[in-house]
Amino acid sequence: MRISVIGTGYVGLVSGVGFASVGHDVLCVDIDEEKVEMINRGEPPIYEKGLEELLGVLVTSGKLKATTDTARAVVKTDITFICVGTPSGEDGGQDLSYIEKAAEDVAEALAKKDDYHVVCVKSTVKPGTTDGLVLRALESSGKKVGDDFGLAMNPEFLREGIALKDFMEPDRVVIGALDKRSMEILAEVYKEFPAPKVYTDLRTAEMIKYVSNALLATKISFANEVSRICEETGIDVYDVMGGVGLDHRINRDFLNAGCGFGGSCFPKDVKALVKYAHELGMSSHLLDAVLEVNEEQPVHVIDMLERNMGSLEDKKVTVLGLAFKGGTDDIRETRALPMVKELVKRGSEVVGYDPEAMKNFSFVVDYIDYAGDLEEALEGADACIIQNDWQEFKELTSDDFAVMKNKIVLDGRRLLDPSKLDGVTYLGVGL
Ligand code: UGA
Repeated sequence: MRISVIGTGYVGLVSGVGFASVGHDVLCVDIDEEKVEMINRGEPPIYEKGLEELLGVLVTSGKLKATTDTARAVVKTDITFICVGTPSGEDGGQDLSYIEKAAEDVAEALAKKDDYHVVCVKSTVKPGTTDGLVLRALESSGKKVGDDFGLAMNPEFLREGIALKDFMEPDRVVIGALDKRSMEILAEVYKEFPAPKVYTDLRTAEMIKYVSNALLATKISFANEVSRICEETGIDVYDVMGGVGLDHRINRDFLNAGCGFGGSCFPKDVKALVKYAHELGMSSHLLDAVLEVNEEQPVHVIDMLERNMGSLEDKKVTVLGLAFKGGTDDIRETRALPMVKELVKRGSEVVGYDPEAMKNFSFVVDYIDYAGDLEEALEGADACIIQNDWQEFKELTSDDFAVMKNKIVLDGRRLLDPSKLDGVTYLGVGL
């Protein structure tokens, strides 16, 4: 099939590359000329494992191209995926302005197109957006849904860092459609993907995405709350969740206590679901608590360190991991930010280190020191906090910590085995 993808962020670019790699012809669209040029040179504008190699091959073979011209992309393809961002608005609800603009641009092109075209929303949007705002914008083309164009909603469940793998081997593919023909075309697009397909309506598809993220976030906040109870009782939350997670009805995944959840999805999507519930006149007690636990957790981690060190004033504290998780340079909603702020508030001298995210973090935080490598980061530190789960942090040994002034390690992601660390004061979340 000939596919156009609007937006070349994590979702858009990975989807474009994924679709092209199973044989579709893909045209990626972005308003940012620099990004478009990079993609056409085979250079991904974002860091994602395996993306550069695959993009290079697909660009060379002509299976994937990029353009700034939405109209041309729509006219030259059979289906357009809208993959633009839906950031949090000031009130916690979704800012749908990028979606609206993308739909308006597609409408302009639809007005000039004679053959049937499917428009599919992939961005995370609240229920009612695709058959509301998006449909209204598309109908401004003068074309009729069901006859001249089709409308679908196909949420994405990829995780940053392993996005390509998640895209190529999904647990399920959810396809919501307004008309039968769109449903069939989407089924064709995903023919090569070996996963259960859920065929449903637009609003259910939109809700499945929200509820999946909200439930995963709930598991994490649940684990974090239980971890605080465990810390007071000498029980290791990781042992507890190991036992709990063996129940297939519960499942062990996403029960890892840590510094809280960050990223561009969980905090934003839970807040948007809360807002949506309130708009409907409903309460959101459980989701409110999920967010509250998540706000408290980074401060709780700093409290834990302070309890063990007496005071944090004038102490050199190294924060290992600035991205919201390992394997990415993305710092959106990273728990490193509230932790760094809290440390600075309590008088610490903070050093930050991350294999990929330092540049991004330093744009937001210019009042701490940054280290060029792990050794420099740990050198002379009074304590270090592991905030995210980069592989290189998992490989840290007593030798690495030997350069610290006081070898206090607060493992915020429980990556290390304390029994293998000599001469180190090991503190673990939930331990
Ligand atoms: C999340 C979902 O996992 C994807 O399925 C979804 O497609 C995506 O959002 C999205 O909506 O686009 P992502 O934000 O990339 O993916 O990151 P996750 O790997 O899910 O991690 C989110 C946060 O939870 C991270 O801060 C991570 O450190 C934290 N986390 C995760 C925990 O604290 N404990 C866990 O057990 C798992």
